[in-house]
Amino acid sequence: MAEKWQVTFEIYRQKQGEKAHFVRFSLDVNPEEYVLDGVERIWAFKDRSLCFSHACHHSTCGACGMVVNGVEKLTCITPIREVTKNGGVIRVEPMRNFPVISDLSVDMTSLFARMEAVGHLAVVPVLYEDSKGRSAESEEMLRLSDCIECGLCISACPIAATTPAYLGPAVLAGAQQSGQLTPCVLEMVDSEDGAWRCHSAYECSEVCPSHVDPGWRIMDLRKKIITLRVRSFFGKK
Ligand code: SF4
Ligand code: FES
Repeated sequence: MAEKWQVTFEIYRQKQGEKAHFVRFSLDVNPEEYVLDGVERIWAFKDRSLCFSHACHHSTCGACGMVVNGVEKLTCITPIREVTKNGGVIRVEPMRNFPVISDLSVDMTSLFARMEAVGHLAVVPVLYEDSKGRSAESEEMLRLSDCIECGLCISACPIAATTPAYLGPAVLAGAQQSGQLTPCVLEMVDSEDGAWRCHSAYECSEVCPSHVDPGWRIMDLRKKIITLRVRSFFGKK
C-alpha cells in the first residue's frame, strides 16, 4: 500500500497591487509524488485562484520552476520526499530575479528575448560517430537542446539579484553553446553586463536540472572572447 504523509504547503501569494504573503494548506500526499502534484491538488480542491505555470510534467518545457524550501527546483521532477518529512512544511515561492505576474507565476520574457538574441537554438542536430570514431552531425535528426530555458539558474544567481541588466547564466551559456560568436553576440557578451560580471559563484550549475553547467560555460565563453579579441588585434579572423 502506498505510504501516506501529511504535509503543510506554505504558498506565496501575490496578486497585482497586493502585498506578498503566505497561505498554508494541509495536504495528504504520497511522498513519491512531486511538489507540482501537491500545488495542482491545492488548485483543484482548495483554491482555484492560485496561479502557477506548468505544461509538460516531465522536465522538458521548463515552465514549472519555483523556489522550494529556499532552493530552485523544477517542481515536476522534485519528489516531496526530497524536500520535507512526514508532518513537515514545504514552502513554495516564485523564482527570484523575475517580476511576479501572479502568485507563483513569473514573467520570463527577458530571458526568452535574450536567448533568441544570442542565437540559442531550441533544437540541435544529433551528433554521431562513424566507424572510424569521427564525430559528425546528422543531417536528418534533431534533438531538444540541453537548456530548457527554465530560468532556475537566473533565480539562483547572486549577481542577477544585483541588477536586471546582467545577461545571466542561461544566456551566457546559450552564447557559448551557439557555436561561432557573431560580432553582434560578441558585443553583447563581452560587456559590463555580460561574461565579465559573473563572480564564479556556480550557484547556477548547482540548480540546473539539465546538466548545462552554465558556470563552466561562462568561464569557457571568457576564453573564447579573449581568443577572438587577440586574433582580431593581430588582424586574424
Ligand atoms: S542553464 Fe539550466 S537552469 Fe539555466 S535556464 Fe538552462 S536548463 Fe534552466
Ligand atoms: S512542467 Fe514542464 S518542465 Fe516541469
